[in-house]
Amino acid sequence: MAEREFKGFGGLLLSADMRGSDEDPSVLLLHGGGQTRHVWQETADALVKAGRHVISLDLRGHGRSARSEDARYEFDACVEDLRAVLAQLASRPVVVGAGLGGWIALTAIGEDGGHLASGLVLADAPPEIDLRTAGALAASIRSAPAQTENVDPVFGDVIDVEKSSERISLAASGLKVPVLFVRGALSSFGNRDAANRFVEKVATAEFAEIEDAGHLAVFDRSDAFSAVLLDFLERRVPRVMPDYKQGSDARTLRDALGCFATGVTVVTTMSAEGEPVGLTANSFTSVSLDPPLLLVCIAKSSSSLAALEASQRFAVNVLHIGQQPVSNTFAMPGEDRFSQTPWQEGQYGSPLISGALANFECIKFDLHDGGDHVILIGKVERAKYEPRRDPLLYFKGKYRRLHFA
Ligand SMILES: Cc1cc2nc3c(=O)[nH]c(=O)nc-3n(C[C@H](O)[C@H](O)[C@H](O)COP(=O)(O)O)c2cc1C
Repeated sequence: MAEREFKGFGGLLLSADMRGSDEDPSVLLLHGGGQTRHVWQETADALVKAGRHVISLDLRGHGRSARSEDARYEFDACVEDLRAVLAQLASRPVVVGAGLGGWIALTAIGEDGGHLASGLVLADAPPEIDLRTAGALAASIRSAPAQTENVDPVFGDVIDVEKSSERISLAASGLKVPVLFVRGALSSFGNRDAANRFVEKVATAEFAEIEDAGHLAVFDRSDAFSAVLLDFLERRVPRVMPDYKQGSDARTLRDALGCFATGVTVVTTMSAEGEPVGLTANSFTSVSLDPPLLLVCIAKSSSSLAALEASQRFAVNVLHIGQQPVSNTFAMPGEDRFSQTPWQEGQYGSPLISGALANFECIKFDLHDGGDHVILIGKVERAKYEPRRDPLLYFKGKYRRLHFA
């Protein structure tokens, strides 16, 4: 679990727990007034297990988020905080808000037309605040902060959700993302008729009730709530596998190709002027044992290509786990690569990186056109290797190490 700080309204720092892999679709959890992110513990566990990235945010004046020196705890400030946090995320999460957190999320997302979030779950935050709900709400928020020292006691005096009930109803009409409204069947907040009206009014909304649960069923019956939430997410905001089709974005294709884990090599040769030349390459493949052939693919844009094409010989140096700096040096343009790296001339004239896991000295066998790369095939004249070292690995754009369970 990692902690991250976001800049909220007026630069106030808001704190959140980040759990799961940030490559998974994300869910942002927003607790109710007088609570902290810790109330989501069980729900967050269930979401991470189901392959979601979870961000649990503390509202301003709550938990590890900063307190407002000048008591800016109005509903509007809380809505602006959420907008600011959503704008700082790399992807559009589903926002799950309980009680006050739900109204904040509904307002931010409903007014915004769906650019900031991909879905909304209202846990015991009825989208219509009638007089009875407003009364229950005011009482619950005013009494809650006193229950915990993790909340600025002034928060309950300033927060003014009841005054924003019209704004909330209006924002509800603007919701375009998938919405789930969940309430405890015994909750004093809202009622089933109002929920049905909401579902009729908002085409993307659905309603679920949790039996035997009162206000904030999320936490009373977190197992039942998690089941309803996961069902909603799987149906309405499913995990999508990135999909590349010929001509669509090259980034997705690169990421798909990056799912194939490789080692890392430095391909070297001696230029006609007798200068060592080399670049980092993970496109290395063994081709044939008889004759002994291997290949690497060199980008046509590579400044090393001319020397590799001109020379009759080249070498492939397989890097070990300690040679990540060598890989970086030979991948970076403008570096004086060989002055920073120990090397010596091999038996057949190609530069060999000292201490590599393996060195293959090759005579050029063939060159093929390979789109924006050239396929360089070498016949191995000599190979030596270090039997006791681990390789440097490369997977999904990152260096990795072998891990034996
Ligand atoms: C892990 C890794 C693998 C790479 N594999 C290749 C490769 O197979 N072929 C290639 O042409 N470039 C590859 N590159 C990129 C080159 O190393 C990089 O563009 C380098 O700056 C080229 O240098 P040059 O233009 O001096 O030849 C790789 C880079 C990294 C970090």
